Amino acid sequence: MSGTSLDGIDVAIIDITGSGFRAKINVLTSHSVPYPRKIREALLAISNASAHTGDISRLNFLLGELYSEALEETAERAEIPLETIKLIGCHGQTIFHEGQGAQYLGKKVASTLQIGESSVISERTGIDVISNFRERDMAAGGKGAPLVPYLDYMLMRHRGRGRVAVNIGGIANLTAIPPNTNTDRVIAFDTGPGNMVIDQLVSRITQGRQTYDRDGAIAAVGDLDVKLLAKLLRDKYFRAKPPKTAGREQYGSEFVSKLLDTELSSEDLIATATALTAESIAAAVRNFVLPEMRVDEIFVSGGGTHNPTMMRMLRKAMGEIPVKESTEVGLDVDAKEAIAFAVMAYETAHCRPSNVPMATGAKRPVVLGKLTQNGAPAPRNGAANGTTNGTAMNGSARNGSATAIHKPKAARPTKVSRQPVAAKAKAAAR
Ligand SMILES: Nc1ncnc2c1ncn2[C@@H]1O[C@H](COP(=O)(O)OP(=O)(O)O)[C@@H](O)[C@H]1O
Ligand SMILES: [Mg+2]
Repeated sequence: MSGTSLDGIDVAIIDITGSGFRAKINVLTSHSVPYPRKIREALLAISNASAHTGDISRLNFLLGELYSEALEETAERAEIPLETIKLIGCHGQTIFHEGQGAQYLGKKVASTLQIGESSVISERTGIDVISNFRERDMAAGGKGAPLVPYLDYMLMRHRGRGRVAVNIGGIANLTAIPPNTNTDRVIAFDTGPGNMVIDQLVSRITQGRQTYDRDGAIAAVGDLDVKLLAKLLRDKYFRAKPPKTAGREQYGSEFVSKLLDTELSSEDLIATATALTAESIAAAVRNFVLPEMRVDEIFVSGGGTHNPTMMRMLRKAMGEIPVKESTEVGLDVDAKEAIAFAVMAYETAHCRPSNVPMATGAKRPVVLGKLTQNGAPAPRNGAANGTTNGTAMNGSARNGSATAIHKPKAARPTKVSRQPVAAKAKAAAR
């Protein structure tokens, strides 16, 4: 998986058995590989930008190579032989996403584009690949996002507790799951900016020497500007009713240029941008979740969890509601989205739908993604046939990810945290 932050590739390798929300997963390993600076810059230049089609085409193939290498590196570190991996789910890197139809050449068109050529990945690894997860949901009338609520519901639903999963990537999003419910009452949407505005401010202020506010250190010494924050929070996106999706379109360079035009010091600006993320998440919970359900706890994941200043602001904004990290339900904060695409690829390989229509607005549940077969003549363990194992390469909230399904003969890392949690989640759901 690779998310809108353009920070790199997240890979998770999982074992998975069973089906649908009752599937059992066991995360064998996860690992993130940062994009080299030149790649990040090249991706930024083709993300929601006027770009040469040649660059898009080349980057599509180049990312296929990088995803393959990231998977190989991850498997090698964990001593998982590649041959034991049976399926890859690769979200790819989103370079354009317009979930809501817009007038174009006389017709209303919604579209999305993730790159990272699946043929290259399959050829390099010898493994089947599921990619292009978002298109089918959009063809069915959905916004193509968010897709991760599938995993959130699968692992976090609880008989007695109302839970909210928040992911703070480039964009921040939430999945709210009322106690003891099916997916029809799940609420999911993008709350607004996550780290994207902060990252761009830091990059532009430091002229590229730093790409993010490491450990929230800059924001910690700034004073937030209450007036500017209030003005930013009045934006109509925050008032719009869900489902809704956000992206670089709203919070890209234009938005950041306007912030830089203010007279504020760099520290105050970054503190205010950090508060914008925390406050807009809290406002989303207050305005769109609490009127519908009780919220007993919030589980946060994504790179934003590594920013203590942001987490402190979020805890303060949430008041009484405990704000925890997703690790408390067994989901590594950096691997959650990669795991989600591994699970969805597995569902797709079994011709089962994995969009959550309540989250995306799709007319119906659909089987997501496209299969690129390796076509190896050797007999493979059918996925239906025992334990399978998935790898996910991220792209996240708007993301890139891969699932690999592997035969269990491999020397497996010792006991993995995922299984008890999945079991617990299942037990709780019953
Ligand atoms: N130590 C840290 N301190 C502050 N921010 C961090 C830290 N580590 C990661 N981040 C933030 O998290 C972002 C990456 O988050 P991620 O969840 O991967 O987003 P995406 O899914 O959009 O790729 C980085 O761009 C950065 O802003
Ligand atoms: Mg990322």
